[in-house]
Amino acid sequence: MTLQGLENNDLKLIIFGGKGGVGKTSCAIATALALAKNFRTLLISTDPAHSVSDCLEQHIGFRVRQIAGHDKLAAIEIVADEALSGFKKEHESELKKLLETSTNLDNQDIDELLTLSIPGIDEVMSFKTIIDFIEKGEFEKYVVDTAPTGHALRLISSPNLLDEWIKVAARMRWKYRYLITSFSGNYQQDDVDVFLLSLKKTVKRIESILRDSTRCEFIPVCIPEAMAIMETRRLLADLGSSGIVSHQVIINNLMASVDCDFCRRRKAAQQPYLQEILSSFNTLNAVEVPMFPEEVKGLEALNKLKYVMFGK
Ligand SMILES: Nc1ncnc2c1ncn2[C@@H]1O[C@H](COP(=O)(O)OP(=O)(O)OP(=O)(O)O)[C@@H](O)[C@H]1O
Ligand SMILES: [Mg+2]
Repeated sequence: MTLQGLENNDLKLIIFGGKGGVGKTSCAIATALALAKNFRTLLISTDPAHSVSDCLEQHIGFRVRQIAGHDKLAAIEIVADEALSGFKKEHESELKKLLETSTNLDNQDIDELLTLSIPGIDEVMSFKTIIDFIEKGEFEKYVVDTAPTGHALRLISSPNLLDEWIKVAARMRWKYRYLITSFSGNYQQDDVDVFLLSLKKTVKRIESILRDSTRCEFIPVCIPEAMAIMETRRLLADLGSSGIVSHQVIINNLMASVDCDFCRRRKAAQQPYLQEILSSFNTLNAVEVPMFPEEVKGLEALNKLKYVMFGK
């Protein structure tokens, strides 16, 4: 089988995830190359290791860059720290005012607090960057390569985290509002309220696109090995409980050749795991990808992988 349905016009966001080293980056790039034949496609890496540059043999970095030789394909490697510092810079005055009006901290304390990192905020900002791109609508498809499983799950649960943060901030604001209203009798909405409302809208937008199976699809990548299967099972369960749908799974690194004793034995050893994947994930379209003799690096190798995944 090949990957199905990714060319549906409504489908915008395609996220690849899975255990370390199973082929997420290779599959994400091959998919972006396939989609870029007909759609303006943005390949997004959220992996701090940024192997997209290495695999494409072209420097990308934290800025949208056109991929040489492909009119409709661009890529960006999101640097979570930079996404976060950009957000802080953009909203510095609102964040300061929120703390000034709701806490007893002095200016120095507030400056120090703003330089501290809130756990998980990096992923929130990475995801916010992706959603901002989708809303700008310059591209028709957004293909996301993630770091190993835990990272993909943190990325996906980032709206909950941001929501928790907003709730705390809103509670602080509510006390401030109560005080102002008690003293002056009326309260005018200010830029901090507008900022919190807009963050709340961001959370809603992220949640709504992630949970909409016509607009978003998560594709797990697995290999025929015990640990990878266990991790894929956990990943799918966690995605399911977050309301995120997977329709297909990629089974990578399958031994195809039986030309030598090593190949035959390797292939035989993979068989029970392949069967386990096919039966455990039998509701998913399984896309089998052979292990190539060479690594998947550079456009020629990526196009070979693309051909296997898409049949064209
Ligand atoms: N089908 C394949 N045949 C041969 N080599 C492959 C295949 N798929 C991936 N590789 C190679 O395996 C290595 C890991 O692949 P890749 O970087 O795509 O995995 P990953 O899941 O993104 O890894 P990480 O978790 O480190 O981000 C790379 O060297 C890649 O070229
Ligand atoms: Mg990778």
